[in-house]
Amino acid sequence: MELNLPKQINILGYAGEVLAVIFEILTANKYSGEVQIFRNEKEKRAKAPFERDIPYKEYMFYQLKAKPSDNNFLFCSSKSDTKKFIFNFYQDLWDIKQIGFINLMHPSSSVASSVQIKTGLFLGSLTKIGSYSTIGFGVNIHSNCSIGHHSIINDFCTIQPGVNTAGRVEIGEGSTIGIGSTLFYNVKIGKNTIIGGGSVVTGDIPDNCVAYGNPCKVIKQNYIPTIENYTFDKTD
Ligand SMILES: CC(C)(COP(=O)(O)OP(=O)(O)OC[C@H]1O[C@@H](n2cnc3c(N)ncnc32)[C@H](O)[C@@H]1OP(=O)(O)O)[C@@H](O)C(=O)NCCC(=O)NCCS
Repeated sequence: MELNLPKQINILGYAGEVLAVIFEILTANKYSGEVQIFRNEKEKRAKAPFERDIPYKEYMFYQLKAKPSDNNFLFCSSKSDTKKFIFNFYQDLWDIKQIGFINLMHPSSSVASSVQIKTGLFLGSLTKIGSYSTIGFGVNIHSNCSIGHHSIINDFCTIQPGVNTAGRVEIGEGSTIGIGSTLFYNVKIGKNTIIGGGSVVTGDIPDNCVAYGNPCKVIKQNYIPTIENYTFDKTD
């Protein structure tokens, strides 16, 4: 899929593995625009190798008093709760809007033409999204995933690599599906839930829990995620 990328891209967050793929996608698209990364002091980029052909500038979030005029934001995090935190933080700081985010997709991935996508989608390589599915705001779907037809992936969800879902699956806001999991037809996952890696989800899983296994069972209830690295201080 050819991307029509804007002249400036503003990356919020600094997760090394995601940054590596963002640069890979930009390189694959022969991107010649300007890349700016906004982060805080606590975020430490993992030593992932990434394409350095594309020039970029790095800022601490407080170095820019007003939001970048071009918008065109992109999350650089794989964690649902971190993406939510980053969005709320920059909404407060710069009054950013969901509409100000772009979608970034690896050219080897395919999305059926009937799929509805909000904004802020990050799509890794060799992933397929089946027909009539709906993708919410700020969703990450990593490499080698297959999302079945008529599925609904709500805002801030993260789908780790190698996940396969059958048709008519629904994943609630802020939930994460761990690496290599399989979700059966019509399964509903609640909000803010984590499905552990390698799970086989044969039935519905409720909100706010950690669940894993084959068949997937709830292991922890009333799960509340902790946000690492995101205690921003506003230094005005
Ligand atoms: C589900 C998960 C969040 C649980 O994390 P946690 O609460 O820190 O769990 P722990 O690592 O302390 O493991 C606790 C026990 O559960 C088991 N366990 C953990 N995750 C499991 C999984 N997905 N399937 C089966 N068993 C699992 C562990 O083996 C351990 O068993 P033990 O007590 O007999 O030794 C995590 O294991 C996971 O699967 N995360 C997703 C990983 C992923 O997708 N990464 C993407 C990388 S690209």
